[in-house]
Amino acid sequence: MNPIVKTMMQSTAIAAAGLLWAGVAAAEGSASIGSAIYNQQDELLLPEGFREWVFIGAPLTPHGLNNGKAGFPEYHHVYVNPDAFAVYQRTGEFPEGTVIAKELVLLQKGDYKDGSKNAPSGRGFFAGEFQGMDVMVKDNARFKATNGWGFFNFGHNAPPYLKASRAESAESCASCHTANAGKGMVFKSYYPVLR
Ligand code: HEC
Repeated sequence: MNPIVKTMMQSTAIAAAGLLWAGVAAAEGSASIGSAIYNQQDELLLPEGFREWVFIGAPLTPHGLNNGKAGFPEYHHVYVNPDAFAVYQRTGEFPEGTVIAKELVLLQKGDYKDGSKNAPSGRGFFAGEFQGMDVMVKDNARFKATNGWGFFNFGHNAPPYLKASRAESAESCASCHTANAGKGMVFKSYYPVLR
């Protein structure tokens, strides 16, 4: 064969193989976005990159409307890992391995007692600094006792958050979700995109 044609064919084959490999790598990468990872002490590692997951909503419990001591101050920015969200959209159920991150965010300093302030858009509440991180993981085998969901607290403070966290007791987290959100454990009614 003409050596030039042969070289061209070889490089085309190499380029094709490279593309194929990139495709596989991308598929594998996306399959693992946000997957729960545990260390040897059975602690969940702080999810990485959760602020780029699917943002499903921001319930707000300001100190100003809760006698100055909201249990979860104040905005709750809630994210679901993208693969689980895609399954939810198809089936209406969160699949095994779903990770939901709730980041607490304080309000900006208010002009009024209730914590609200004036902005060009009107009087309202506006997000200030990050202030903590709670996570739920769906894993029926691991968290059978709490309706298949594990609960983790990575600190209710400004970042940096804990790098790893042990599952919380049923009393500190799951019991309230069971009592008020039902067996599904997720408060779906507060997130328009889940309804
Ligand atoms: C007193 C009741 C109560 C307790 C205790 C509680 N939660 Fe929740 N949690 C809620 C409610 C209500 C929502 C949804 C509305 C909101 O965020 O204000 C929620 C939302 C969440 C969400 C977002 C998904 C969802 O179901 O809306 C996560 C994640 C979460 N909680 C984790 C935790 C963790 C971790 C703990 C323990 C450290 C905990 N929760 C303790 C009531 C509770």
